[in-house]
Amino acid sequence: MPRLVDVPAVPAREITPRDTYLRRRELIAAAAIGAAWPATALAQAGGTPRPGKLAALPGQRSTVAGAMTMEKLTPYADVTTYNNFYEFGLDKGDPARHAHRLKTRPWTVAVEGEVARPGTFGIDDLLKLAPMEERIYRMRCVEGWSMVIPWVGYPLAELIRRVEPTGNAKYVQFVTLADPKQMPGLSSSVINWPYTEGLRLDEALHPLTMLAFGLYGEVLPNQNGAPLRVVVPWKYGFKSGKSIVRIRFTEKQPKTAWTDAAPHEYGFYSNVNPQVDHPRWSQSHERRIGEDGLLQRRRPTLMFNGYEAQVGQLYAGMDLRKHF
Ligand code: MTE
Repeated sequence: MPRLVDVPAVPAREITPRDTYLRRRELIAAAAIGAAWPATALAQAGGTPRPGKLAALPGQRSTVAGAMTMEKLTPYADVTTYNNFYEFGLDKGDPARHAHRLKTRPWTVAVEGEVARPGTFGIDDLLKLAPMEERIYRMRCVEGWSMVIPWVGYPLAELIRRVEPTGNAKYVQFVTLADPKQMPGLSSSVINWPYTEGLRLDEALHPLTMLAFGLYGEVLPNQNGAPLRVVVPWKYGFKSGKSIVRIRFTEKQPKTAWTDAAPHEYGFYSNVNPQVDHPRWSQSHERRIGEDGLLQRRRPTLMFNGYEAQVGQLYAGMDLRKHF
C-alpha cells in the first residue's frame, strides 16, 4: 500500500536518542543567539541540562544579584561522587556509596526558639513554600577544593519570614539528621553528633542564602544533603549543613559541630578569606574539582568566594582575623 510520505525504514540504532536530540536543539538555539556559548551560558539561557537520574525539580533562573556565576559547571558526576558528608563516612567516596540508605520520606523540619510561629513543616509543604529558582554558585571547601554547582531552591529568608523571628532572635542554628540505623559514619567520633551549624540572623536572611532541594534540575541526590540543605556560597562548605531536621532561632551564638570539635581551626563565621590561612594550610588558592590532571591549574581564592560585592557590608568594621 502506498504511504502518504515515503518514510525510509530506519534501524533502531540510528534513531537519535532523545537526550542527544534535546541537546542538539539547545545547541541550535545557542547558535541562533549568535555564539558558540559555553555550557554554563547555555544553561543560563534555557536551564541546566538534566542528568536524568532523579525526579525533575526545575527552577526559574534567578535574578538575584550574584546568583548566576558564568563559570563552567562542575560535571554532575563529580558533584555527586566527591563529597563530605561524615555521617556516611570520612572518605570522599563514602557518601555516594552509603547514602542510598537515607530515607528522605517522610521528613519533617522543626522550627523553634525565638519565633512567633514555631512549628513542624513536612518536606512536601516546604517544597511548595516559595517558587523554585536555579542558582549557579561557586562553592569553596575549607580543604582547598571548589566546585560550581547549579542549585535549585529558594531563599532561606522565605521560610524565616513565615515563622516571624522575635526581637530576641540574633542567630539561627541548623541541626541535621543523626540516625545510626541509616548513617554508618555516626560510629566515628570525629564530631559530636548531630552535625550542627549556625549563622547570624542577617546572614541567614541574605538573599544569597538558600534552602536547596535540588541540583542540576533534579531533586538532591542523598549524598548532597537530601531532602533539603542550606547553601551559603560565601562561606566554607561546612557551613552548608545537609539533611536538616531542625532550625532553631537563638539569642546567643549557637554551638556548631566544627567550632566544637576544633575551635582554633574553624571559626563561627568561616567566611572564605584567602588572607586568613587555616592553621595547618594556606587558603590563598584552590583546585577546581573536575579539572584534575595535567591541565589542572591552581586558582586564586577570592575574598568571600567572589561574593564580596553582595555580602561585604555584613562584616563592615569587623576584624576578620579575629572573627575567622
Ligand atoms: N552536612 C552534614 N550534615 N555533614 C557533613 O559532614 N559536610 C560539609 C557540608 N555539609 C557536611 C555537611 C562540608 S565539609 C562540605 S565541603 C559540604 O557539605 C559538601 O557539600 P557537597 O558534598 O554537596 O559538595
